[in-house]
Amino acid sequence: MQYNPDTSRKFQIVMNTYRVFGFWETLKEIILYLLSRKPHDGFDKKYGVMTSGATESSEAGIADETARSLAVGYVPTREVVIRHILDNTTRGLDLHDYAFVDLGCGKGRTLIVAAQQPFREVIGVELSPLHCEVAETNITRYLSNIKNPIGSRNVRVCCVNAADFVFPNMNLLIYMYRPFLGPIFMHVADNLRRFQAVTGRRVLIAYSCPVEELMLDEYSGFVKRTEYQVISMDYSWSLWECQAEDSLVLSHSEAR
Ligand SMILES: C[S@@+](CC[C@H](N)C(=O)[O-])C[C@H]1O[C@@H](n2cnc3c(N)ncnc32)[C@H](O)[C@@H]1O
Repeated sequence: MQYNPDTSRKFQIVMNTYRVFGFWETLKEIILYLLSRKPHDGFDKKYGVMTSGATESSEAGIADETARSLAVGYVPTREVVIRHILDNTTRGLDLHDYAFVDLGCGKGRTLIVAAQQPFREVIGVELSPLHCEVAETNITRYLSNIKNPIGSRNVRVCCVNAADFVFPNMNLLIYMYRPFLGPIFMHVADNLRRFQAVTGRRVLIAYSCPVEELMLDEYSGFVKRTEYQVISMDYSWSLWECQAEDSLVLSHSEAR
């Protein structure tokens, strides 16, 4: 996604913003963008949870020095953005056959939104033990308050580096909101390619604020399905599908 748009691209970006946020929110977005201010949504109040605020990765209790240096700090996805992503990625899918996996789930906001859909499993993977604890409390609160007959109650948080996470053997809708950079991103992409080649499962990757998407572009095995570039890079996202071939995955891992 390039961020030096010409005039016609700028128009398209405003239209995309309108599609994601609607008229009033787009207006608010433009004003906030011009004032360089961050918006607030009423997510926590609505669900009785604590997901708001930002935390630097250096303050998140992450013991592994390398992983900490490649981690991006915590900021939650805005509710309107994750809802737009889910609406546009799950259409036509039988979600009973899919797990939603947020790699770098932070305090679990997206898990609460995804759990309103009939995913077979909703999984958050998080490196920071502090965020994991908050995410678990949030999920427990959400599940104990909600009576949604179609939603998933199979929600869990795994406190582990995303690079070490073992994916469940089912179709996957992976979500990432710029959680980590460089080698960790590459490692995760490699794991997903290998998973797809070995299991033949469908692997969709919704990547929000896709700062490392060039890596997906450069390696064969990932196909970009769609992208939404909106006013703020933070809320832009792209959808990728992993289509690895056995030989490709093997030759890549042999070369390492
Ligand atoms: C920008 S926040 C996104 C939070 C959440 N996905 C959301 O959209 O609301 C990125 C999160 O990724 C986590 N993270 C960074 N590196 C990670 C890694 N290697 N494995 C798992 N989580 C990681 C950070 O601790 C942080 O909570």
